[in-house]
Amino acid sequence: SLEQLLTGKRITITAGPTREEIDPVRYLSNHSSGKMGYALAIAAQELGAAVTLISGPVNLLPPANIQTISVTSAIQMHEAVMETIHNCDIFIGCAAVADYQVQKKSNQKIKKSDSELTLTFIKNPDILSDVAHLANAPFTLGFAAETQNLQEYALGKLQRKKLNMIAANDVSDSTIGFNSEQNALTVFWSKGEKKLEVADKQLLARQLMHLVAQRYIEESND
Ligand code: PMT
Repeated sequence: SLEQLLTGKRITITAGPTREEIDPVRYLSNHSSGKMGYALAIAAQELGAAVTLISGPVNLLPPANIQTISVTSAIQMHEAVMETIHNCDIFIGCAAVADYQVQKKSNQKIKKSDSELTLTFIKNPDILSDVAHLANAPFTLGFAAETQNLQEYALGKLQRKKLNMIAANDVSDSTIGFNSEQNALTVFWSKGEKKLEVADKQLLARQLMHLVAQRYIEESND
């Protein structure tokens, strides 16, 4: 599309997994590849936006001419987002942020013993929710990665986290979602919904960014 719907707008996008350290050699993480978030960053730039991409550890090259900030843990991602969120018009949370971190990280490698090992986890801050609850909150799009009750859980997150939009991602289907080339989404907002059928992530990202730009422009004019 040659339509520059987002010229002059600033967009911050999170992408990829986070890693929660257990000891110097071990971590807890998930299967996010970063592909969906990186594709969204490129699609936003194509619409004329100035994009900041905040990325967990992935095997992707930073997209050309996009400010990319690399982080590892959820706490680091939270800090990087909060530092760059001011003057931001649109925030997209595509990262698969770990909900928990290990309560007591071990400074030394945990040694194998004859007994069982128990780790205690404490909750991480919710980056998306914190952004959406800011006094001067940007327009927000969240993702909901679910293996069941897709619509119900997505709508719950839309409401609880106070978002403008949510993209529901059925991650029980291994051909889409985490670490695959393709994805499919159902996007919900307060007054509507739209189904984006299975497609390559870059094509799907263009469709989603176009929808976000339309909703953003419409809600700014309300
Ligand atoms: O990276 P890919 O391999 O391309 O895969 C894409 C994807 C499946 C990771 C992506 O499409 C996706 O669904 N991302 C959201 C994954 C996720 O963690 O969803 P969630 O339902 O657990 O979280 C809900 C929302 O809150 C998300 O926008 C998430 O970024 C945000 N969140 C969650 C926890 C937390 N502590 N902070 C957050 O900001």
